[in-house]
Amino acid sequence: MTNESILAVRHVTRRFGGLIANSDISLEVRRGELLGLIGPNGAGKSTLFNLIAGTYAPTSGEICLDGDDITSLPDTKRCALGIARTFQVPRSFDSMSVLDNVIVGALVRRSGANQAREQALETLDFVGLATRAAAPAVELTPPEKRRLELARALATEPKLLLLDEVMTGLTPVEARKGVELIRRISDRGITIVMVEHVMEVVMPLVDRAVVLNLGKVLAQGHPKDVVRDESVIAAYLGDRHRAT
Ligand SMILES: Nc1ncnc2c1ncn2[C@@H]1O[C@H](COP(=O)(O)OP(=O)(O)O)[C@@H](O)[C@H]1O
Ligand SMILES: [Mg+2]
Repeated sequence: MTNESILAVRHVTRRFGGLIANSDISLEVRRGELLGLIGPNGAGKSTLFNLIAGTYAPTSGEICLDGDDITSLPDTKRCALGIARTFQVPRSFDSMSVLDNVIVGALVRRSGANQAREQALETLDFVGLATRAAAPAVELTPPEKRRLELARALATEPKLLLLDEVMTGLTPVEARKGVELIRRISDRGITIVMVEHVMEVVMPLVDRAVVLNLGKVLAQGHPKDVVRDESVIAAYLGDRHRAT
């Protein structure tokens, strides 16, 4: 990890009618970093991902990638610039094969069909889905669907990857494999921001954690310090984390 910032979110606010889902959020992500984004349900984590990926526009504030203001760019342009994300609820093209789903991602950077196919096959191998390449996506188990979602995002060859609860619903064994996969993605030099609920999974994995609560940044820092922060314990972790 370097000290150089790859992503800067500055004073970002997003309203939905009267509701403020993100309220004056500022944070920086360093190049090569593995950052955990945590906080209770409804804290605004997925909304922040939607704003970074360009699915929604912020009501106010700015978002910079590599020092360039991308706030008004559509999601497709941001994807071309190297931002990829997974959705909290996996979205696959169910009638298409697993391979074709990943080719859709690969075509972002590979123009030829053969090149895209090769890239997709490599990515499926990397996430451990190679044997399922020919299966229709609809036949995948829920954990396999999460891997497919990850493969499609990775096939776009991102520099910044946003993972929204990719470990939800996994058994402990699957979650351990998921952790190992995220480490390998990080080892490739890809900057990762991950939303994850299970503290035991996310805290040992990440370099730094940012806690959101009620649409605001409540705390950020080294995972060890964040879990001891009184405001984080009060708002999110509860007493079971106190003094451990
Ligand atoms: N498209 C939307 N329209 C209306 N309200 C939304 C929309 N997306 C999110 N919200 C609201 O914004 C708040 C934050 O939601 P979200 O970002 O999904 O939180 P988290 O991912 O931390 O659980 C919630 O109150 C949610 O209902
Ligand atoms: Mg969410």
